[in-house]
Amino acid sequence: MDLIVRNARLVDGDDRVDLAVRAGTFADIGAGLKAQAQTEIDAGGNLVCPPFIDPHLHLDAALTAGIPRYNISGSHPEGIQVWGEYKKAYPQFEDFKDRARRAVEWEVAQGTLYIRTHIDICDPSLTALKYMLELQEELSEIADIQIVAFPQDGILSYSKAPDLMREALTLGADLVGGIPHCEWTREDGVASIGIVYALAEEFDRMIDVHCDETDDAHSRFLEVLASEAIKRGFEHRVSASHTTAMHSYNNAYAFKLQGLLSRAGVNIIANPFDNTVLQARFDTYPKRRGITRVKELLAAGINVSLGHDSIMDPWYPLGKGDMLAAAQLAIHVCHMSGFKEMQQMFDTITINSAKTLGIADSYGIALGRRADFVILDAGSVLDALRLCPARLSVVKAGRVVAETQPSQSRIQYGTEQKVVNFQTNS
Ligand code: FE2
Repeated sequence: MDLIVRNARLVDGDDRVDLAVRAGTFADIGAGLKAQAQTEIDAGGNLVCPPFIDPHLHLDAALTAGIPRYNISGSHPEGIQVWGEYKKAYPQFEDFKDRARRAVEWEVAQGTLYIRTHIDICDPSLTALKYMLELQEELSEIADIQIVAFPQDGILSYSKAPDLMREALTLGADLVGGIPHCEWTREDGVASIGIVYALAEEFDRMIDVHCDETDDAHSRFLEVLASEAIKRGFEHRVSASHTTAMHSYNNAYAFKLQGLLSRAGVNIIANPFDNTVLQARFDTYPKRRGITRVKELLAAGINVSLGHDSIMDPWYPLGKGDMLAAAQLAIHVCHMSGFKEMQQMFDTITINSAKTLGIADSYGIALGRRADFVILDAGSVLDALRLCPARLSVVKAGRVVAETQPSQSRIQYGTEQKVVNFQTNS
């Protein structure tokens, strides 16, 4: 064997097992394996889980917070204004690769090995997209990255967008994006979804659309996206990101919509960091929470995953690329602090996202699958969600791609020091 991890606790089991890796795949899994390996890691009863997945990240804006200035109000419109100022300051995206590479490294160091990134193609030179395609290749050693051709300014509201979308897909963008709620009219929004599907059919690509990212209860493009998926045979190949208008729909309409989403197999991607700070800015009190109906969608059997969305950009100034932190926040704002609900939330950053990315058949800790996994400084899923602990080792295809030393706190009693252990193994 090339690598053996001893004394691992898996997500769905209390017993300790060993994981043996050969030629980049799981070759044996079981208690007390007799095999030996060149490299052995003792997990010491810590949780070993499949890698985290970030299915929604804007790498073109990542780490631009404060450049050229911070968003003073914190609002979405001012974020757009600051982004315009950034583009004036860096018209050639000179710093793009350094920033995006750093953001990916942050995510990998925290156990995320799969990323889907939206890159704005509303630029006649497609500069950011071309840089991103280079980075996708350069970073393939540490992360698998899918690129969405994302028309930030709209497909019909920005006349060059359809041609630029086609060019981006020809160059190698993996998915077709869209933003129907930002088109100038409802009719344009519906028509833009038609263009999204036409491109997806032409290039045989999956779809991931920013959909109904607004507080406006009249924004109803998700029903169009889902119904077209059924009509055109795109079931389970379409994702709808954000869908925050759903928190404002009346319950009767939301119920009808859930049936349609279920039938169409549309994946929903919620983004708790950005949407809890950007939505409901027109509310006084009561103030809406700004996130889609994660709990209700999951209960209806719809595949929901979480994205990080922004890492320090004009719309969200915080974040460090930690998907466990995204899940922790979602537990709070989605009222999912029930015991089983917290376990369910862990799925939204792991196996649910694997379905969203179309990699469910090759993902997970199982014989014959690619040996991707994370060893956490926590003994259980609940401790992982509570502590967002150090990712001690991050392994991609059997190779350790990141390691972290956990921090240690000590209490001073007189002349004696006591090491603080935050773990409970609950
Ligand atoms: Fe987004």
